[in-house]
Amino acid sequence: MRHLMSPLDFSVEELDALLDLANDIEAHPQKYAHACAGKKLATCFYEPSTRTRLSFEAAMLNLGGSVLGFSSADSSSAAKGESVSDTIRVISCYADICAMRHPKEGAPLVASQKSLIPVINAGDGGHQHPTQTLTDLLTIRSLRGELGNLTIGLCGDLKFGRTVHSLINALIRYPGIRFVLISPEELRIPSYIREDVLTANGIPFTEMERLEDAMADLDILYMTRVQRERFFNEEDYVRLKDFYILTKSKMALAKKDMLVLHPLPRVNEISVEVDDDPRAAYFRQAQYGVYVRMALILTLLEITVD
Ligand code: NCD
Repeated sequence: MRHLMSPLDFSVEELDALLDLANDIEAHPQKYAHACAGKKLATCFYEPSTRTRLSFEAAMLNLGGSVLGFSSADSSSAAKGESVSDTIRVISCYADICAMRHPKEGAPLVASQKSLIPVINAGDGGHQHPTQTLTDLLTIRSLRGELGNLTIGLCGDLKFGRTVHSLINALIRYPGIRFVLISPEELRIPSYIREDVLTANGIPFTEMERLEDAMADLDILYMTRVQRERFFNEEDYVRLKDFYILTKSKMALAKKDMLVLHPLPRVNEISVEVDDDPRAAYFRQAQYGVYVRMALILTLLEITVD
């Protein structure tokens, strides 16, 4: 039995197969409409979510399966003090696969060690968010044709943004990847990514504060929200929250085929005037999130469709 805790749990070849499957699902949704008939997905969300939980549920429903779960710690037995290990043992009796989001880093991993069903990490604190990364990879590959040979600007809260940490880990396995890390000083990428992942693997990267200075070089601009819930005090959040706002005038500095991605939710960091720019890909990205989660559910349940 396999779980998904980090994007590195899949080899590059396995990831290619998963993304191929997602593209086939996109092209022929009817073929997969009953693939998970009789199967149940549990969504155990101890932290707020719109896209991740609902896209998992939509994915299972599109496959003909059903869903059950909870969407906050308050509405589960966690409020009574139950451990994730106990919860997952019980959920294993009710469902065939589980997607879990938790504010504590490593909680889904602890759950997976006691689970009788595949567990998917749907975001653990400021650590990892592998299914967002699968979504990002599918979006980039589908819209650009390949995952290598790209200059990727990551902008915003690089310290607490788990989607950024997972995406860097996944992308360094492809050739010709360069990163431009754009953040205020206080929200720079953690050293366990800068030194242990980028420098240790000889991946070219630069760090800068001004988005304008990076724009012209980028093939992909990955915007992120300042992660309010992970700040220790509100004053710092208020000071940093509008540090970056992507506007039409900044988009004018970018390549004609640059893509703008964002895991969403957006707060202020992309002005709504950018939404109509053909390079704005964040809503298409949300749609890819459903296809890739369908492919992931099939893969972990070892269901094949001819
Ligand atoms: C992200 C997350 O939860 O980390 N959201 C998502 O799953 N699409 C990004 C965020 O909350 O900023």
